[in-house]
Amino acid sequence: MTGPLILRPFHLDDEAEARAAHHELAADGFGFLLFRDEAGTWAEYLAWLEEVRHGRSLRGRMVCSSLLVAEVDGALVGRVSIRHELNEFLATWGGHVGYGVRPAYRRRGYATAILRGSLEVLADLGVEEALVTCDLDNAASEATIRACGGFPDPELPLVGAGPTVSAKKRFLVPTSD
Ligand SMILES: CC(C)(COP(=O)(O)OP(=O)(O)OC[C@H]1O[C@@H](n2cnc3c(N)ncnc32)[C@H](O)[C@@H]1OP(=O)(O)O)[C@@H](O)C(=O)NCCC(=O)NCCS
Repeated sequence: MTGPLILRPFHLDDEAEARAAHHELAADGFGFLLFRDEAGTWAEYLAWLEEVRHGRSLRGRMVCSSLLVAEVDGALVGRVSIRHELNEFLATWGGHVGYGVRPAYRRRGYATAILRGSLEVLADLGVEEALVTCDLDNAASEATIRACGGFPDPELPLVGAGPTVSAKKRFLVPTSD
């Protein structure tokens, strides 16, 4: 039987599995462990993520954000980056939420559960409508967004490629009913 999907911060004993997931998702050009600096230890990385969750020690174009792992029955099945606010880059291309599911756990509804849980986190932060974007050819991500109530942004449904990103479809998703 499959238990519920839980979104939680990474723990110290997640390192090996998280590294494996990072390696797997690299094939999709997706960074499972965002901004992981291999020079630092896992414990230092987790301490830094906690800082970022409180809007401190931000690097580059980062904003206050939570990197959470999705756990089902003790397995790390995916992860999500929840941006508490948007800067110009995120308001155009990145959006509030970025998620990935490990290849072995796909097509079981986990991305949909991750996005649903992320919308609850955003609602608690006072965000009423989330911006969620996906690549033009990412049918799975688009279906995930639509399954969570997303609709094309009426003002800007599509945006062309930016300096470091490809063109995106943009969706608005209400965070509560
Ligand atoms: C996109 C991704 C997160 C989907 O994860 P998943 O757990 O397989 O998604 P779900 O099982 O929740 O399925 C969500 C929807 O996508 C559909 N779907 C899943 N895989 C699909 C595929 N390969 N092609 C078309 N539709 C697909 C499902 O049928 C479902 O739609 P439905 O609700 O209408 O039935 C996963 O493929 C992934 O991690 N890809 C690499 C990283 C990435 O692209 N992240 C998104 C960045 S915007």
